[in-house]
Amino acid sequence: MKWAVIATWAMAENGVRIASKMLENEESAADAITEGVCDVEDNPSYHSVGCGGRPNRDCRVFLDGGFMDGDSLHFGAVGAVEGYRSAVRIARSLLKGDANNFLVGSGAEKYAEANGFEKRDNLTEEGKAIWQAEKDRLKQLSAYDGHDTVCFLAKDQKGTLCAATSTSGLFMKEEGRLGDTPVPGSGFYADSKTGAAAATGMGEEIMKGALSYAAVMYMKQGMSAMEAAQKAVNELDKELKERNGYAQPMSLVALDKEGNIGVGTNVEFTFVYADEKTEPAVYTAVPLDGKTVIGKRM
Ligand code: GLY
Repeated sequence: MKWAVIATWAMAENGVRIASKMLENEESAADAITEGVCDVEDNPSYHSVGCGGRPNRDCRVFLDGGFMDGDSLHFGAVGAVEGYRSAVRIARSLLKGDANNFLVGSGAEKYAEANGFEKRDNLTEEGKAIWQAEKDRLKQLSAYDGHDTVCFLAKDQKGTLCAATSTSGLFMKEEGRLGDTPVPGSGFYADSKTGAAAATGMGEEIMKGALSYAAVMYMKQGMSAMEAAQKAVNELDKELKERNGYAQPMSLVALDKEGNIGVGTNVEFTFVYADEKTEPAVYTAVPLDGKTVIGKRM
């Protein structure tokens, strides 16, 4: 494939269209996935990312985001950032340099302020209403009740692979809670010599298996992107069930250096894919007997 892009969840469909046009026009994977993620961050009708993201226990919206360049292996990440438009743009700006690549909380906000990142109150009326309805019944939260991370992976025409992620994290989370989304190796990983992967689902589970790095490592060992994504999810799902009796939702998208995709999941989820020969479309992925069954969503 000259270029390819894969993203988590149907909400990424428009962003994948934007990224596809950019990749076709020989723009970089980094720029294409930044615009793709920002399209989701800016849409208040998606309740797990950016504007309109689900609030924490105190009815405040905190964002996490990550970015990795597969040529240099440099990454940038931010966690628990409040009051800014785009977690992914701030994360990407932290790629350079050999230190201070992962900033959280007030440190990340200070950095965003000093570097002129656009501010935005991401708490919408709808977000407040969702919080109001749920606050009195702090139930056992399920990942897909409350947080669907947007992840984009792309290969550009120069062969560079990049990964980007953004989320408002677990609904009703504690202040300061971080999931996998900004954590390199867990929420995302990209190596242009091998492949890239990124995760959505319950961060506390995904981090137990460093899921994105596990998938890239399996590709490095010679597996296809599809085999690698499924092995990474299935192995962790099995380990967790053996040790704890259950495993919470985890889904993974992957892309190898040729632009072939992989998807692994222990719950039904949707993803979006496009390459130079394939129009952007939404697909469903369903786990069945240790395999992931993929179909095009009608
Ligand atoms: N996967 C997103 C989170 O756990 O926050």
